[in-house]
Amino acid sequence: MPASSLDQLVSLCKRRGFIFPGSEIYGGLANTWDYGPLGVELKNRVKKEWWKTFVWKRPDMFGMDAAILMNPRVWEASGHVGNFADPLVDCKECKERFRGDKLLEEKLGVEAVSVLKLAQIGPMLKAEKIPCPACGKSNWTEAKQFNMMFKTHQGVIEGEGNDIYLRPETAQGIFVNFKNIVNTMRPRLPFGIAQIGKAFRNEITPGNFTFRTREFEQMEIEYFVEPGREAKLFDEWKESVWNWFTGLGIGKKSLRLSEHDKEELSHYSSRTVDIEYRFPWGFGELFGLANRGDFDLQQHQKFSGEDLTYTDPDDATKKFLPHVIEPSFGCDRSVLTFLLEAYTEEPLENGETRTVMKFDPRLAPVDVAILPLSKKEHLIAKAQELYKKVIQETDLVVDFDVTGSIGKRYRRQDEIGTPKCITVDFGTLGEDDKQGTKDTVTIRDRDSLQQERMTVGELIKTLRG
Ligand code: GAP
Repeated sequence: MPASSLDQLVSLCKRRGFIFPGSEIYGGLANTWDYGPLGVELKNRVKKEWWKTFVWKRPDMFGMDAAILMNPRVWEASGHVGNFADPLVDCKECKERFRGDKLLEEKLGVEAVSVLKLAQIGPMLKAEKIPCPACGKSNWTEAKQFNMMFKTHQGVIEGEGNDIYLRPETAQGIFVNFKNIVNTMRPRLPFGIAQIGKAFRNEITPGNFTFRTREFEQMEIEYFVEPGREAKLFDEWKESVWNWFTGLGIGKKSLRLSEHDKEELSHYSSRTVDIEYRFPWGFGELFGLANRGDFDLQQHQKFSGEDLTYTDPDDATKKFLPHVIEPSFGCDRSVLTFLLEAYTEEPLENGETRTVMKFDPRLAPVDVAILPLSKKEHLIAKAQELYKKVIQETDLVVDFDVTGSIGKRYRRQDEIGTPKCITVDFGTLGEDDKQGTKDTVTIRDRDSLQQERMTVGELIKTLRG
């Protein structure tokens, strides 16, 4: 059963080295999080599984990695300078800042608010006597557009002309390289370009652990198709992404599809379907699939002056701008989802409860733990010998743990989701026939708790799969 409260997970993540609050020794920096030794392994594995499924195993996909800093004209073309803004209002009493449209939506509904002009938001908050969520009073400023892009400057001189942005999405790095990839890889439509990388948004209401942060990682695909062929391919993408999440252990009952209404669509999209996950605070967006049409290639063609048309390899007279289907994943949000879904509390026969992270073995940050039964020196030496053998003869991440009783060490490995624990005992040494014969070890399964005795040779074969 997934974690029912976020606090349980946040506490486990800190205690076990998955995720720490950012800049903690300086009192922190709100809504920043640092991945610890286990968190970075988990995140890297999520990225690897993603890359494996959507790049390596598909002949129609190419990978790339663009710079975070881009020519500022990119963001004029993409619409982010003009459109990537929230209407903000300040409470005159407590000085807290909120999204005016969101405050109104709760009372009036999304549809009614979507038709309001910026200048109508402040007066409407007053007319509806909407209270400030922080202090309860109702004394609002006019609404002002607040662009969510982080601005910085390039070079030593600040100011006009040197302003650049931290990218708010990875997608544009793909669009501006469309021509390069067509020219170098000579792909036939439909084909896609995939990228994993950081994005930055000056979010007004970040929160819920790593769900909404100002710095986050995206895993995005821009899939280029012949105009008119979007509908079927859109549905195929919806299905393959759904299968990717469920194939890696997210329960179908924890997911749902959500089609955007017209008024919810971004400026570039003619159709968007989200996959939502049942987070402890309710369903929320995990992934978005959009039909971007030829909006981006049109815009970049116009702003850059470059010809971005694609020429049909079978008919050179056929030149057109492909349309784009965009499967866009939040990497940190996916990691959070895998963490929440893995979190399980299970009653044991002895009346105790164990906390176990039931990660799919492909995602577990540690593959196998080697545990000497006791702290006897020659037993530790034998276990270390096995540790060296396993890391040399497999590609697995192996933990070696001698601290505390064997029961405590099993609990610790359960809490970090290690699928297999290997115990080296006096049988392994050939000193106790009751425990087992010489050079055999016990392998314990995280989920079934079954233990099996096997020779070291068999163990290596089992671990190699
Ligand atoms: N290129 C399209 C795009 O960026 P989006 O819906 O704004 O679309 C895509 O973002 C995904 O990125 C979301 O589904 C979510 O998983 C993730 N995401 C967006 N904003 C985020 C934030 N502030 N913190 C963490 N993840 C975020």
